[in-house]
Amino acid sequence: MPRTIGDTPQGGSVLGFYAPRGTPRPPRVAKGEGVFLWDTDGRRYLDATAGAVVANIGHGNPRVLAAMQAQAARVTFAYPRFFESEDSVALADRLCAWAGPGLDRAFFVSGGSEANESAIKLARQYAVVTGQGSRFKVISRNPSYHGSTLGALSVTGDANTLGIYAPMMQSHPKIDAPRSYRLPEGHTIESFEAACAQALEDAIVREGPESVLAFIVEPIGGLSTGAVVSSPAYFQRIRQICDRHGVLLIFDEIMSGAGRTGAFLASHHWPGARPDLVTLAKGLAAGYTPFGALLAPNHIVDAVVGAGGFVHGHTYFTNPLSCAIANAVVGEVARLDLVKQAELRGRQLTARLEGIADRSPLVGQVRGLGLLMAIEIVADKSESRQLPVTFNAPARLTEHGLRHGIALYNRRANLGAFGDFQMITPPLTITEPEVDLLADLLERSLADLQVEIEQAGLARY
Ligand SMILES: Cc1ncc(COP(=O)(O)O)c(C=O)c1O
Repeated sequence: MPRTIGDTPQGGSVLGFYAPRGTPRPPRVAKGEGVFLWDTDGRRYLDATAGAVVANIGHGNPRVLAAMQAQAARVTFAYPRFFESEDSVALADRLCAWAGPGLDRAFFVSGGSEANESAIKLARQYAVVTGQGSRFKVISRNPSYHGSTLGALSVTGDANTLGIYAPMMQSHPKIDAPRSYRLPEGHTIESFEAACAQALEDAIVREGPESVLAFIVEPIGGLSTGAVVSSPAYFQRIRQICDRHGVLLIFDEIMSGAGRTGAFLASHHWPGARPDLVTLAKGLAAGYTPFGALLAPNHIVDAVVGAGGFVHGHTYFTNPLSCAIANAVVGEVARLDLVKQAELRGRQLTARLEGIADRSPLVGQVRGLGLLMAIEIVADKSESRQLPVTFNAPARLTEHGLRHGIALYNRRANLGAFGDFQMITPPLTITEPEVDLLADLLERSLADLQVEIEQAGLARY
């Protein structure tokens, strides 16, 4: 009997919160090893997106599993304000050393949204204790994604989500994020980037600089923009504008950090635009435990501590078990030289995706950096025409992919208003032959999608 959503009177699949009763349930995962996942029917899937861009060191890493068991046998929980744990300190030392000067302290939480909540609250408390209590607005970009808790969501640029929750939140100013495909009329990539940077200064002036606390940016967009990479000039410009107006620059590196782009932080690609605060999650503990981090400079932390300490925290912050696991994960990132691997395999993947784009009418653009890549799916690339948003091309590609043994995560941002893209973000441990396999499976899935599009009368090839 095929399993469907709502097929039991109570409990059942969590997808019952998303899909109507009667919808087929997804395959049930049985095990993971390296870049592969297997379902309970024994079918194998190449995890081409590392789940939700999480499994950076691949599945089933024996050293991390051993560290997890060893820590669990010692102690799983001890509240970090009473007891420090060896791994939490070692992890902070290591991350701050990798992040470089100006990111001197680490605060550990349970995921990306909590990390961004921590960043905007630390920024606010810093303003309050340094006589800048009028600063509270956090400018962000549209489209963008910073998390689903109400604070992180209030700085997210997604009209659909805000349409539901906006009345419950503080409204913060939004400016355009640079794009590289289907640009506004009359713009080149460069001129649109320049306009987007100017929009930051205009927004600060319009809002009143004394009221603006911070500007939060995904340095390389995730699901919101589909891996758009902006030029060094854009980053330098936003840094200068923030400096001119005393505005803190927060880089949300929840997806782009922890080595995925071929540098430990994506911001390392733009030394002229060092952020004041950085958030990490996803690949940091690579799915071995729910985890996130805020990295902050001494001068901000010292000012807040000097005034009584950070008025913020969670029961599970700096959890000893999670810190031990995350420390073992970053140990594997170092041992296997995965930041370098992300660069090398990223180059191979880019070349393979560009080859697919040359052959497939559906691939309008290949973009990204390292192993944070995406393809833009279009009806016909000669016209850059988007498929009807109701068709939901990424979701259709995911379905074809599962049949071909490739797992392609997607989540629709802004209901597809900024295009249809598919992230291609495998574990950083992916080998050269596995990149080739990924590309082959993706190309077969795209070919099936092309047939479906033709049969639905949405395009002719
Ligand atoms: C850029 C970015 N920021 C924040 C988040 C939120 O992280 P989490 O889902 O762990 O709360 C995500 C998650 O997709 C993300 O991609």
